[in-house]
Amino acid sequence: MSALVLLHCTAVARPPDKGKGIWQLLRNSTGVVPMNMALTHPNAVIMFDQTGSGPSQYPLRRCYNGTRCKATHYDQSDSSCFAHSIEYNILSNGIRPLNIETDTFVLLRLHFRQWNTSSNRWIRRWLSIRYYEPCRHCNWRQSKQLLSANRWYASNLVLPEKDRVIVVGGRGTFSYEFVPKSSHRDKTFDLPLLHRTYDRKFIFANRDSILLDYKRHRVVKTFPRIPGDAPRSYPSTASSVILPLDHRDGFKKVEVIVCGGAASGAYTAAKEGKFLEDLTTCGRMVISGIIFKSCVITGNKHKWSMEEMPGPRLMNDMLILPTGDILIINGVKRGCAGWNSAASPSLQPYLYKQSKKHGKRFSILKSTKIARMYHSSAILLPDGRVLVAGGNPNNKYALSDVPFPTELSLCSLQMDRKFDKTRPQNVSIYYGGGRGVGYGAEFGVNFWLRRKPVKLKFTAYKPPFTTHSLSMNQRMVVLECKNMTRGEGGWVNALLKAPPSANTAPAGYYMLTVVNGGIPSISQRVRFMHA
Ligand SMILES: *[C@@H]1O[C@H](CO)[C@@H](O)[C@H](O)[C@H]1NC(C)=O
Ligand SMILES: *[C@@H]1O[C@H](CO)[C@@H](O)[C@H](O)[C@H]1NC(C)=O
Ligand SMILES: *[C@@H]1O[C@H](CO)[C@@H](O)[C@H](O)[C@H]1NC(C)=O
Ligand SMILES: *[C@@H]1O[C@H](CO)[C@@H](O)[C@H](O)[C@H]1NC(C)=O
Ligand SMILES: *[C@@H]1O[C@H](CO)[C@@H](O)[C@H](O)[C@H]1NC(C)=O
Repeated sequence: MSALVLLHCTAVARPPDKGKGIWQLLRNSTGVVPMNMALTHPNAVIMFDQTGSGPSQYPLRRCYNGTRCKATHYDQSDSSCFAHSIEYNILSNGIRPLNIETDTFVLLRLHFRQWNTSSNRWIRRWLSIRYYEPCRHCNWRQSKQLLSANRWYASNLVLPEKDRVIVVGGRGTFSYEFVPKSSHRDKTFDLPLLHRTYDRKFIFANRDSILLDYKRHRVVKTFPRIPGDAPRSYPSTASSVILPLDHRDGFKKVEVIVCGGAASGAYTAAKEGKFLEDLTTCGRMVISGIIFKSCVITGNKHKWSMEEMPGPRLMNDMLILPTGDILIINGVKRGCAGWNSAASPSLQPYLYKQSKKHGKRFSILKSTKIARMYHSSAILLPDGRVLVAGGNPNNKYALSDVPFPTELSLCSLQMDRKFDKTRPQNVSIYYGGGRGVGYGAEFGVNFWLRRKPVKLKFTAYKPPFTTHSLSMNQRMVVLECKNMTRGEGGWVNALLKAPPSANTAPAGYYMLTVVNGGIPSISQRVRFMHA
């Protein structure tokens, strides 16, 4: 049985090399392409596709208005007789369909959602805003509030203020706005950078980046252009993360890394059936809090440091693993994003160890056999596995007679299964009452270690909402341990300090992991909140 599973998901069915990862096939089909994925609860992942793709592979007994779906040609080609959103249960490996309303206006354009920091809900929309609250029978709920502008391909970020989100851009929309609005005058704010990204029908975030003071609506800094002549955003879809923020510098140093992208002209070439080789580079830049002789200087000397990946890559997902290392997974080697615009799937995940020396940071993990191209996604689960799903370069569900069929299988990539002697176990978090840990407050973590600790590290990870190689709101903070005692029978008690403010870690749920000698525990949920 497990041999079968390995054969299906991996290139070589032999025991994995130490630390190279283990692929597992979890489900042959999710029925719906998980173009969008997010962990909404320690046991649940929400997944959904655009309804514009038409009938999925998940037929419903009744459509959303309650009418029974029949075997007629009409009903079988009616997209509302099929699920477009599902909830995946991590423990049972089961799925249940969720309603996404049939209103095409909303449906074709739903493209973003956000963790609601106070209620563990998600909002998403184009003009409409929807909430999702994970519980046994919960479903999408549409808000009466609307956005002020159309936002298709927008991105969003949870802000330090309580329950506030900034939504930036969208196709043909060169502005940003806030949800919820602080007053009715607070509509949309023009952003010149976005005007410069406009290239015919598409959004190219070209090679520029800025630091925006969203309170004063001022561009504080314009960073240097990333080297090379190619843009790094849709349809030249690169990926990026903020490297872990660390208590050792007071969380002052903020560094970003951007990896992959398409060659200049890749979109035009793809339309002619030519798939140009993608970019092999990553750019890394400290955007604030430069460390000099153990002092933090917020200077103006910003510089991209370029690094070579083991190969060309586009439409890759980037995830911060519990150890603080970065996983680069999914995507292709040639072409660009969009329907039928790419070839040569990237089957090897890369691991990027930021703590190593420049030039020595990349290693190659175990290959998969499954192409994860346009509309694929990946997220980190609390048990340390990476959930990998989706992929559909065809604008409908196409299971055969196309170069790259719609991919419905669900897989996981697991790291380090063999290191249970080092792995911290039975982690529990405690704090005195209340619904969470206030900023700067101390809280306790209890866990079990078979042997003496090797090198302990405590990380807190904000699970992202992932789509189109963009993991919105993903961030990691490395927490300070104030005191630690190792008692009878291997039990360890650690006193940790919560991040100092919502600027470091916006309020909400985080996955707390105890890492011992590079081996992570299973994560436990902790909530950081305003006092
Ligand atoms: C996937 O399908 C194959 C072939 O039908 C079957 O043998 C296998 O058990 C299935 N795997 C899972 C995880 O359902
Ligand atoms: C319900 O939806 C189906 C499919 O879109 C449609 O054919 C039917 O007329 C609708 N029924 C009602 C009562 O609105
Ligand atoms: C989040 O949920 C709370 C409680 O239901 C609600 O009051 C608040 O307005 C929501 N925030 C956002 C940003 O939607
Ligand atoms: C840790 O938890 C597991 C499962 O809950 C339990 O079987 C095991 O005995 C626990 N380990 C220790 C050292 O208590
Ligand atoms: C650390 O914890 C131990 C055991 O709870 C306690 O005796 C000791 O005073 C603590 N040390 C500090 C510096 O808080």
